[in-house]
Amino acid sequence: MSKKILILNGPNLNLLGMRQPEVYGDTSLAELDEHCRVHGATLGFEVDCRQSNCEGTLIDWLHEMRGTKNGIVLNAGAYSHTSVAIMDAIASVERPLIEVHLSNIHARERFRHHSYISKVATGTICGLGTTGYMLAIDALADILDQEG
Ligand code: DQA
Repeated sequence: MSKKILILNGPNLNLLGMRQPEVYGDTSLAELDEHCRVHGATLGFEVDCRQSNCEGTLIDWLHEMRGTKNGIVLNAGAYSHTSVAIMDAIASVERPLIEVHLSNIHARERFRHHSYISKVATGTICGLGTTGYMLAIDALADILDQEG
């Protein structure tokens, strides 16, 4: 049976390609989702891509992960810098989670330097644009292989 992964994007990422393309690039969310599905499939993954602007919805989807998905790639957008609730949800899921940011959050405003997600993520990738999602999927493949 193929392993299932969730690609979860948070607030404002529905506007990818249109919103500040000089920071976030010109790939749309639909294109990014398709790249993730295709790349994941080459590694034998069934890829479920979701996006929400609502903190509670993201938390509900993380809870739903328990027992239904093997790993997660999460770009929580601005909630990364504010949400103890999302951090707690991730800690409750007990599955490998790779945090991704399109931009290099450490080279930007000070308030973006801290991420609550990093405290509970298996690893973090930032500053590599949409390539970061592909690398995160590769990382999940390695981690899940080691789990057996
Ligand atoms: C982001 C970085 C966050 O600081 C910002 O609020 C986002 C996108 C990124 O992908 O670079 O919405 O997570």
